[in-house]
Amino acid sequence: MEENKYALQMQNITVKFPGVLANDNVSIDCKKGEVLGLLGENGAGKTTLMNVLYGLYPPSSGKILLDGKEVQIGSPSEAISHGVGMVHQHFKLVDTLSVIENVILGIPTKKQILDLEPARKKLLELCKEYELFVDPDEIVWKLPVGKQQWVEILKALYRDCKVLVLDEPTAVLTPAESDQLCCAIRHITEKGRSVIFISHKLREVIQITDRVTVIRDGKFIGTVDTKDATQLTLAQMMVGRPVSIERKERPEFEHREPILVMKNVNAVDDRGIPALKNMNLTVHAGEIVGVAGVDGNGQRELAECISGMRKLTGGSVTIKGKPVTGVIADPSFLGFIPEDRQKTGLVMDFTIADNLIIKDYYNEPFAEKNILNYKTIKKHARKMIKKYHVKTPSEDVRVRNLSGGNQQKVVIARELDPEPVLDLVAHPTRGLDLGAVDNVLDILMKERNRGAAVLFISAELQEVMALSDRIIVLFNGEIMGELDGATADQKVIGQMMLGQVPEVL
Ligand SMILES: Nc1ncnc2c1ncn2[C@@H]1O[C@H](COP(=O)(O)OP(=O)(O)OP(=O)(O)O)[C@@H](O)[C@H]1O
Ligand SMILES: [Mg+2]
Repeated sequence: MEENKYALQMQNITVKFPGVLANDNVSIDCKKGEVLGLLGENGAGKTTLMNVLYGLYPPSSGKILLDGKEVQIGSPSEAISHGVGMVHQHFKLVDTLSVIENVILGIPTKKQILDLEPARKKLLELCKEYELFVDPDEIVWKLPVGKQQWVEILKALYRDCKVLVLDEPTAVLTPAESDQLCCAIRHITEKGRSVIFISHKLREVIQITDRVTVIRDGKFIGTVDTKDATQLTLAQMMVGRPVSIERKERPEFEHREPILVMKNVNAVDDRGIPALKNMNLTVHAGEIVGVAGVDGNGQRELAECISGMRKLTGGSVTIKGKPVTGVIADPSFLGFIPEDRQKTGLVMDFTIADNLIIKDYYNEPFAEKNILNYKTIKKHARKMIKKYHVKTPSEDVRVRNLSGGNQQKVVIARELDPEPVLDLVAHPTRGLDLGAVDNVLDILMKERNRGAAVLFISAELQEVMALSDRIIVLFNGEIMGELDGATADQKVIGQMMLGQVPEVL
């Protein structure tokens, strides 16, 4: 008998949520030793389809075959025992446990006393085999997100998965880490394992996958061989029209009063290590200052110092002349899009409507004589959902049930719609599809043109270059240099991101 070439086949899968047909008769297959890309806009149904495979949702119809045999997967533990591994879009590690504890968590054992030694040995072997190095004894919250990703992958490999699903693994990675991940994926498939790779970054999809399946609005659109695809053709399949990121046209802005003024700012990170060193920065009304840099070079602390979430150890921050002394909750003053939308930006178990008024619920028109006016609140929510293209059946849906990209749109609507004087925006396009990225960049451009001062922190160089009037490059808590957005050279910025001072400056 001929050996079956498919590691995984999902046939005619349909998943319904209240008001949403998340997967509509979708079929995909993945060959042994292959990397299959899964592409689609925010809310297209990618995560849902993979959650079905992982036993998290029962499909209302359809079947799953692993190695040619039909299987019933009713829970993640059944998925794991069938050789399916999954790294979720939003990590599921236990922050306060060590790496090795996380890796073995959930594996049944008959022993009374936990002996970590054999596990540690096996983990170190895996690290070596796949060139993904982490210290087994480090506590997870202390690791940068890139390393946490390695832990998630090692955890799946530790369980000897045959099919590994990576749901937007590179959204949080630096370019160097992404390259490392690509390398590891190659090692994984060389051993005959299969990888399903979900990403919005088309360059990576082209680089790493063998074939790509595209879904749109829950429906299967098509599967192509990657060697026959380009970024443009994939984008077209995904969105239904061509899209690309180019530098935005902009009018000159006349009244350039300084809005954000930072003088000799010093701050330490959570571990007490200096994270910002003597930083001086001014952002004016009607300009976008882009902050480029490899993640983890002070970006998070910078945003937190400006929003009042982190104490300075020296220097001062003022917004329109007022010193920042604590958290700013005035929606007309500061719009803040934090880097972690789930932890800082949203209350996941609140509805969209409630999340949209969280900064403003005690003011009119949302409250009248201390009582919430739900008619107004819901009407406001419906208006925002429409204006910011949030894909959802209703304003009463819990934010937890939105796709990642649509969660981000809720944060943007709440923070930027009140037209604040300062827009403090960290990684706003993380996890967004191409069309949505372009939308966000357009929104920020409109913000600038109405006179907002915009500080735009992003690890996506292309976006920084498309949007910024001025670009500063952060390295190791210091500003390496400042460039004119219109003439900045990608290579020069790249060098500065690595801490080198280019000769041309
Ligand atoms: N548990 C749930 N309850 C209700 N609706 C849900 C649930 N999970 C997902 N949905 C809805 O199903 C649709 C598909 O969502 P899914 O998360 O699969 O999209 P996605 O393709 O992964 O998008 P993204 O790129 O933004 O992560 C969305 O409209 C979403 O709101
Ligand atoms: Mg998703």
